[in-house]
Amino acid sequence: MIQTRQAQLHDRDRVRDIHLAAFPDAERKAVAELAVNLLAEQKTTETFALVAEADGNLIGHVVFSPVMCVDTGNDLGYILAPLAVHPTYQKRGIGTNLIEAGIKRLSDLGVSIVFVYGDPNYYGRFGFDADLATEYVPPYQLQYEFGWQAKRLTDIQGLPSPGKLTCVDSLMEPQLW
Ligand SMILES: CC(C)(COP(=O)(O)OP(=O)(O)OC[C@H]1O[C@@H](n2cnc3c(N)ncnc32)[C@H](O)[C@@H]1OP(=O)(O)O)[C@@H](O)C(=O)NCCC(=O)NCCS
Repeated sequence: MIQTRQAQLHDRDRVRDIHLAAFPDAERKAVAELAVNLLAEQKTTETFALVAEADGNLIGHVVFSPVMCVDTGNDLGYILAPLAVHPTYQKRGIGTNLIEAGIKRLSDLGVSIVFVYGDPNYYGRFGFDADLATEYVPPYQLQYEFGWQAKRLTDIQGLPSPGKLTCVDSLMEPQLW
């Protein structure tokens, strides 16, 4: 049985291993380091990380961290990054569960928009859309502009004003973008 729970600092090594196993060579070290650094950010920011667990093994991990308006410092929304499911357990809906659990939590918190920088072929399934993201400028020049997407979480609340974003410290590394 697969369970989803909040990640803890003591999950650090197993979280690192999921990303090292899931991502291609060129990205795996940087993403694994990001995943571990964000675990520590949970203590000082509104960042939260979720893990999927099966029979005592950690098999998936996702992090949602706040994004702020660079000019005002005000909270603007959240960003989903990174996400990985161990290759042995992929294509069983675990990535979907992690994304949906995080989005449910953001909706409950009253967050109006969530961003992602990743493959539109995957994130499009969850309603992430490049058009919506164009008004919000990521902190660094993107290597793959088509990967910058956003999803609106509420029909009731207005969206935040367009502008340039800043992120929690762990994501403020140009090579991640
Ligand atoms: C992307 C990832 C998290 C999906 O996890 P998962 O648990 O296999 O996802 P789900 O089971 O919920 O969904 C699987 C479906 O998504 C599809 N999919 C996975 N990656 C995809 C991609 N990059 N583009 C399009 N479709 C993709 C699978 O083919 C599968 O399709 P199907 O349902 O038609 O069989 C996992 O493949 C992974 O860890 N990949 C390496 C790291 C990565 O790319 N992270 C996210 C990008 S930033």
